[in-house]
This record gives sequence, C-alpha cells and structure tokens, in this order.
Amino acid sequence: MKVIVTKDYDSMSREAAAIVRKEIEKKRDIVLGLATGSTPIGMYNELIRMHKEEGLDFSSVVSFNLDEYVGIDYNDPNSYHYYMNVNLFDYINIDKNNVHIPDGNSKNIEESCRVYDKLIDEKGGIDLQILGIGANGHIGFNEPEEELNVGTSIVNLTPRTIKDNSRFFKSIDDVPTKAITMGIGTIMKAKKIILLASGKNKSEAIKKLVEGKKITTKLPASVLLLHPDVTVIVDEEAYGINK
Ligand code: PGA
Repeated sequence: MKVIVTKDYDSMSREAAAIVRKEIEKKRDIVLGLATGSTPIGMYNELIRMHKEEGLDFSSVVSFNLDEYVGIDYNDPNSYHYYMNVNLFDYINIDKNNVHIPDGNSKNIEESCRVYDKLIDEKGGIDLQILGIGANGHIGFNEPEEELNVGTSIVNLTPRTIKDNSRFFKSIDDVPTKAITMGIGTIMKAKKIILLASGKNKSEAIKKLVEGKKITTKLPASVLLLHPDVTVIVDEEAYGINK
C-alpha cells in the first residue's frame, strides 16, 4: 500500500485527479469505479477543469458507482444519481449510456445487484476504483460487521454512518437506513485502487489502516492490505498531523 500525504484537501484532490488523468490517457475506454460523498468533490472539480481547459476526453470512459441509497428518488439531491450528475457527469463529455449506478429503486434488488456485478465483469472489470473511507472504516457502504459481503448487496447503514451522512439531509430521520453497495469482492477485483481521505474525522480510521498489520471486518478498509495496487492519498489532518 502506497501512502501519499498531501498538505491539504486541494492538493489531495489534484494528486488524485492527476492519477485518474494518467490512467484515462493510457486507456481511453477505461472502466472507472466512482465514489460519492464530500471527499471526491475536489477531485471531480479538477477533472472537470482538465476536461474544459485541457481537453481531457471522457467519451469512451465507462463508469460504475460504488453505492446508492435504497428507496430514494433519483431527482432527490441526496441520491447518488443526482450527486454524480451535478458534481461530474453534467460537465464532462462522458456518454451517459456508459454510466452505471446501483438501482436503489429496483423492484428486485437482489437480482439487480447480481446483474450489476455481472455487467462489471462483462465490461472487463474495473481498471481504477476511487474510494473514500467512512470514519468507521467502511468502504462503499460495507460497514463494520461480523461478516462482509463479497458481491454487490443491500446493506443496513450503521448509526454512525447515518449520523455522519445526516449533515446532507434536513433531519436525521430523512437519512435512508439501507443502501446498495459494491461488495468487498467487487472492490477487490479492481486492478488499481485510490483511497482518499481528508480531515481529522478520518484520522483514526486512516491510522488503523496504514499502521494495521491485521485484517478485520471491524475495519472493512483493512482488506485493502491484501490488494497489490492501492494508493492512499490523505491530507495532513487525515494522517493525524495536527496543525
Ligand atoms: P465522505 O464519505 O467523503 O462524505 O466523508 C466517505 C465515505 O463514507 O466513504
């Protein structure tokens, strides 16, 4: 696991975007795994800038998002469908037919999860997966539990995640309690992974991850210790450097 510590959020975002750009330029029809949340917004802004000012071309890029809430309308500003449009897709030349996000409104969620994993395989697998990390060490919505799902699945969100995510909602009661997430196996099959973290709130999880010599379902991100190509990009605060 390679760890890059950057001065602040903006440099973390630029560092990550530079890697994404390099990979897109190497393989125009790259399959990207994309994340939502506050953390990747700066990276998406930088990718939009690269597209507008430097012609970075997304026309052949394929994307699969990590997760989506269950039972949320896609026009709801808190849905990840909405998030991806307003934070990235509406400002780049990606073909929306190449964009995939788990269907939290499916009538048959189990089946749609299975189809999602199958589609990823059919597209040749994820070349580059972007991840955030929860303060509790989750990746995607794979929460600390006794068991972790291998494939894309429906999961219950933990009280901590519901509380962390309530900042985006009118009230904590509006936060969905279930989500669909790529499973740990889906994530681990990605050829290359970048994990981003910013801010003090993440420092405990990052410390456990980068110092960890053990894999535990109590820290789902610890499975990444088994992956051959993970780059963790964190700002000083997330690395526990107090300013
Ligand atoms: P955040 O979420 O980027 O909003 O902190 C990250 C995550 O929960 O994976």
